[in-house]
Amino acid sequence: MKVLGIESSCDETACAIVEDGKKIISNVVATQIPFHQVYKGVVPEIASRKHAEWILPVVRQALTEANMTLDQVDAIAATNRPGLMGSLLVGLTFGKTLAWATNKPFIAINHMLGHIYAAHLANDIEYPYLGLLVSGGHSIIAKVNGFDDLEVLGTTIDDSVGEAFDKVAKFYGLGYPGGVIIDKLAQAGDPKSFAFPVPKLDKRENNRYDVSFSGLKTAVIHQADMFLKPGYEKTNENICAAFQETACKTLTSRLFRAVEDTGIKTVVAGGGVAANSRLRAILAERTDIKCIFPPLKLCGDNGAMIAGVAYHFLKRGDTSGLDTTACARIPQFKRGLANLEAFGRR
Ligand code: KG4
Ligand code: ZN
Repeated sequence: MKVLGIESSCDETACAIVEDGKKIISNVVATQIPFHQVYKGVVPEIASRKHAEWILPVVRQALTEANMTLDQVDAIAATNRPGLMGSLLVGLTFGKTLAWATNKPFIAINHMLGHIYAAHLANDIEYPYLGLLVSGGHSIIAKVNGFDDLEVLGTTIDDSVGEAFDKVAKFYGLGYPGGVIIDKLAQAGDPKSFAFPVPKLDKRENNRYDVSFSGLKTAVIHQADMFLKPGYEKTNENICAAFQETACKTLTSRLFRAVEDTGIKTVVAGGGVAANSRLRAILAERTDIKCIFPPLKLCGDNGAMIAGVAYHFLKRGDTSGLDTTACARIPQFKRGLANLEAFGRR
């Protein structure tokens, strides 16, 4: 079965066609980065407008690259949550309209189920495993029991890890998006140059696997001089290396706790920050753990991960109504949002 998957939750307008949840026939990602770069961050209004402008050509290109017509597609899927509301609505409404006009099944997809599925597009992975979902909006450690069964063990109590990368890069004028730039600069820096604080989250109110990045972000941005170690220089390279080291160790210390506690020795990563070279290296050092990362081009937002996971819903006969709406947040993915009612599907 061939599923056409649309992704428009943030600043990439993307569409892919995937066969049987595995074979990527085409995968088109139109990035809006140049339009947001000047503002050093995503401007939601610009993002929605660009999605509206690009969605049709991107979907057309995905069909052209697949050498297929819409008739040959079995179902349409689109991300409906979480993400920027205006951005989500463009892809979701486009996908529902396409499904309605062609009388094909429609499947609304949770973006984070897509991110964790990305690794499955290139690997055969058995459930359960521990998922490390690290993106611009989320930092989640989860027990993943199936393609739609993500048990959140820990999450961030404030900022996401990707947000911290982006804010640090913005403050030091390094460019946008920050993650990939910091990753590169860090290679020429010394991670020991600054003793940035590692969050202590063992207090009772916090979960054992929760993470926090706002203190680290403040330390790197506003108090860097305080943490500079004698004999080292305050260069961008050193700041990047020390910040990246602390951010990655914050994530992996909680993840390794979950490994010890659950006895689950397979870890699957997903999301933009899963592209980080230091994070990959720290995990690779743990030879007792099987760590699976998506290929670099599937770490960031793409339609293939959406089409891929949608296939499994379709196979189960689990499709979405055309009244399915979008939802900016998923309460269980963020501490403090647990009391909010979740709207929309899944
Ligand atoms: O998954 P994604 O493309 O979009 C969201 O769902 O948020 O993730 C984007 C995030 C940005 O914060 C970006 O700076 C970060 O992923 N990122 C990285 C790297 N590449 C992208 N962070 C650290 N190291 C990287 N190599
Ligand atoms: Zn994403």
